[in-house]
Amino acid sequence: MPVITNIEDLRVLAEKRVPRMFYDYADSGSWTEGTYRANESDFHKIKLRQRVAVNMENRTTATRMVGIDTKMPVCIAPVGLTGMQHADGEMHAAMAAKKFGIPFTLSTMSICSIEDIAAHTQAPFWFQLYMMRDRDAMVRMIDRCKAANVSALVLTLDLQVIGQRHKDLKNGLTAPPRPTLANIINLMTKPRWCLGMAGTKRHTFGNLVGHVKAVTNMKSLASWTNEQFDPTLNWEDIAWVKKQWGGKLILKGIMDVEDAKLAVASGADAIVVSNHGGRQLDGAPSSIEALPAIVAAVGSQIEVWMDGGIRSGQDVLKAWALGAKGTMIGRAMVYGLGAMGEAGVTKALQIIHKELDVTMAFCGHTNIQNVDTNILLPGTFPKA
Ligand SMILES: Cc1cc2nc3c(=O)[nH]c(=O)nc-3n(C[C@H](O)[C@H](O)[C@H](O)COP(=O)(O)O)c2cc1C
Repeated sequence: MPVITNIEDLRVLAEKRVPRMFYDYADSGSWTEGTYRANESDFHKIKLRQRVAVNMENRTTATRMVGIDTKMPVCIAPVGLTGMQHADGEMHAAMAAKKFGIPFTLSTMSICSIEDIAAHTQAPFWFQLYMMRDRDAMVRMIDRCKAANVSALVLTLDLQVIGQRHKDLKNGLTAPPRPTLANIINLMTKPRWCLGMAGTKRHTFGNLVGHVKAVTNMKSLASWTNEQFDPTLNWEDIAWVKKQWGGKLILKGIMDVEDAKLAVASGADAIVVSNHGGRQLDGAPSSIEALPAIVAAVGSQIEVWMDGGIRSGQDVLKAWALGAKGTMIGRAMVYGLGAMGEAGVTKALQIIHKELDVTMAFCGHTNIQNVDTNILLPGTFPKA
C-alpha cells in the first residue's frame, strides 16, 4: 500500500482500481479539455505572501455556508455516477463528509438514491437538481427531498445541452457497464471494484429508475435523459423551482457577471462560479479567473462560491482570498473514493484541511475569517 500524502496520490491509486470507463468519465473535460486544464493551472499562477514571527497558535478554518456550519469552506460537489467509482459510493462519500464536518451534495444522476443517503447517514445533506422537461417528475423529486430532510437545493444551470467528452463516447459509457469483450477484459483487472459491486444492488440511477415515468431500465433511461434535460430553462423556471422548494437555493454554473446579477434578483441564497469542472463549455475561462469580477459585482448581496480545479487546501485558501465564501470539490473526492472508498474520501478531506490550515499559518493568519486578498502576491492573481 503506497503512502498517500496528497490528492495526486489518490488519483494515481484510483486510476489503478477503477474500471477504465469510469476513471475516464471523471478525469476528462469537454472537447480540447482546455478549460478543464486551466481550472487547475490557473491556481498555480497565484502566489502567496509568506509572513513570519506571527503567533500561529489556535487556528480555525471554520465557517458557514448558507448558514450551515462547516469545518472549512469546502463541501462535496454533486458528481453523477459516484456509485460507479466505488460500490455504494455516494453513501460512503456522504458518511465521510458527515464525520469530517462538511456538507455533502447528492447529484440527480447518482447511483444511490435520495432515500439511501437519508437512511444511511442520518444527517441533513444537499441535493442537486437538473431541470427536466417533465415538471411532474421535478415536483415529485423536490417532495422526496423534503421528506428526506434535504437542507439545501443546488440547481445546476449549465447543462441545458451536454458538452461532449470524447473518452465517454469512445468507451461507450453506461451504468452498469455493458458486457462487451473490452469491458470484461478491463473488469478482470479490477477485482476489488468487482467484489464491491457484487455486494450491492445499486448498479444504476437510483433517483430515476422506478421513480420517473418511462424509466424502468437503462435502455429507456439513456433516451429519457437526452429527451428530458430541458433546453428551454429560463429565469421563470428558476422562480418556479424556488417556489416549489421553499428552502435554501444555490444556483450552480454561473460564469458571467450579468447572470450573477440575475441570480441575485432571483432571490437565491448562493451562487457557484463553476464551469462544471471543464465538462461543458470548453473555451470558457477557468473558474478562479472568472471569480473576482463576480465577487466585485454581487459579493455584497449574495454568497459567492466557486468550484473547478481544487486539488489542494492551498487552492481553497486562494479562492477564499479572492472572495469565495465556499468551494465545492468534485474530482478530489472522486479520486479518494475510487482509491479507497470512504477512507479515501476522509483522506482527501484531511489532506485538503491540513494544507489549508498550514498555508493559512504561513501567510500569518490563525482565523480564516481574517484572510483576504492581502495574502496574495500582487500581480499574480486575476483581477475584477
Ligand atoms: C465525474 C463528474 C460528474 C459530475 N456530475 C455532475 C452532476 O451530476 N451535477 C452537477 O451539477 N455537476 C456535476 N459535475 C460537476 C461538479 O459538480 C463540479 O462542478 C466539478 O467537479 C468541479 O470541478 P473539480 O472536479 O475540478 O473539483 C460532475 C463532475 C465530475 C468530475
